[in-house]
Amino acid sequence: MTQDDKWNAIDDFIVETFLEEDPALEVAQAACDAAGLPKIQVAPLQGKLLMMLARALQARSILEVGTLGGYSTIWLARGLAEGGRVTTLELDPRHAEIAERNFENAGLADCVTVRVGSALESMAALHSESFGPFDLVFIDADKPSTPDYFDWAVKLARVGSLIVVDNVVREGAILAAQSDNKHIKGLRAFYARAAADPRVTATAFQTVGHKGHDGLAIVQVTQAP
Ligand code: SAH
Ligand code: DHB
Ligand code: MG
Repeated sequence: MTQDDKWNAIDDFIVETFLEEDPALEVAQAACDAAGLPKIQVAPLQGKLLMMLARALQARSILEVGTLGGYSTIWLARGLAEGGRVTTLELDPRHAEIAERNFENAGLADCVTVRVGSALESMAALHSESFGPFDLVFIDADKPSTPDYFDWAVKLARVGSLIVVDNVVREGAILAAQSDNKHIKGLRAFYARAAADPRVTATAFQTVGHKGHDGLAIVQVTQAP
């Protein structure tokens, strides 16, 4: 067994043990595949982690940066407290349209709002509208802007909020301190900012399995933003 086969077999084992058949998410994913969307949604076990974090926070207000077809959004929405809402930000109107249809099919249209446009502009607008504070923010859009999304996320949060950032390992590419790759530079700048920000407490972990070697950062706002 190669190392990859082993990680995948363990991924399968955990999925078979902890995940049930999930027709709503399967239908949503099939719609994304049929529309030709890139298969870069979070892994099922990571989606479930997002749902559980939302539940642990008794989240009434969740912000997502990067909707794609709404796969991760559906997991987040499932973790909402009664009457709660997910606001999800997406640049591509075609992605947003597919996602909206998926929310309707999943019976979640009433608790999810998609804002189409540049996430940086949407976050600035949410801030100027005094929208929030968000209990949970999931950052999963274009990687070069991750440090700026992180700054806005802190501004839009409260003490105790969690900010989750996807793709923070990229098969170890983040080790390349001198990289001119804009994605890697963005992710490294996020680490540096989170580490230097006295208002937050941060950790990150590596993940393996069918989505390859990557990682998630989890940051808690511990001082008033
Ligand atoms: N969170 C999703 C995957 C998101 S993929 C899931 O796990 O199911 C990243 C998404 O970010 C893509 O749909 C892409 O169109 C969007 N995106 C890229 N740049 C953006 C920007 N500047 N503002 C908002 N969304 C952006
Ligand atoms: C890519 C983006 C993601 O958010 C992800 O989870 C995996 C891959 C990408 O752009 O390649
Ligand atoms: Mg991602």
